[in-house]
Amino acid sequence: MMGVEWGHRKRSRAVVREVSSNFNQALSSYFGTHTPDPDAARAAHADYVSALKEQGVDVVVLPSLDAYPDCTFVEDTAIVVDDAVVIPFMGHPSREGEQEAVRDLLGEHLEIIKMPKGATMDGGDIIFFDQKFLIGRSTRTNDSGIAFFEQVVKARGFDSIVFDIPSSTLHLTTVCSSPRPGMLVAAEGHLTPEQFAPLVAEGVELVWVPNEEAYAANVIGFESGVVMISAGYPETKQVLERVGFETRIVEMAHIRAADGSLTCCSIFY
Ligand code: GLY
Repeated sequence: MMGVEWGHRKRSRAVVREVSSNFNQALSSYFGTHTPDPDAARAAHADYVSALKEQGVDVVVLPSLDAYPDCTFVEDTAIVVDDAVVIPFMGHPSREGEQEAVRDLLGEHLEIIKMPKGATMDGGDIIFFDQKFLIGRSTRTNDSGIAFFEQVVKARGFDSIVFDIPSSTLHLTTVCSSPRPGMLVAAEGHLTPEQFAPLVAEGVELVWVPNEEAYAANVIGFESGVVMISAGYPETKQVLERVGFETRIVEMAHIRAADGSLTCCSIFY
């Protein structure tokens, strides 16, 4: 797609957060079948941070919070919009309060915009893609949150598109991501071609991953041509290599046990 470059995506710095000692109590759709394991998740997280550093990202690691089992999923706590950062009310009450340290850190660099009470949003429902914000309407992100966020991005000159997310899917980023400008990856069975039709009509390249590899639709791309992907999804790996990426694989199984994906674990700013 012409006219959209990497420059608009901030990949020089990222904030991440250590895995909580109470990660075994994190929210999880696998409740009763897999219990998240804090030690195994810490090992996965360490490799994740290494992968970011390999790409030259300056990584700030916040300490974990015992009171917040999900605190390593920083993506949900703040959404960067150009030179500002929106601090939402979290979509699940057990996570309300995780935003504080992230807000304090990002507030050193960006203007803070707080959502009004009653509006909820998880950052996992937002994808900054080219000059647009893709917004998931999910069990975590409500209409008031969407209306407020759309007003913020519009005032800064960005467009937005809302995607309805099936209730069986946590966030928009659970099943969709953008590995490079002009390209989106999406999971079959969770999102539909009709939802992307306006973007495809503009020339966006849409790569589908099969439903059985839906988790692998969440990737992080870098200007170097490297894309971070989760271990264990051979078809997605092949598809991304075919369109020119070098893949950097991170074993995410123990992060997935708490419904976390690659993008959930960082905020670029
Ligand atoms: N375990 C991540 C979340 O439910 O927010």
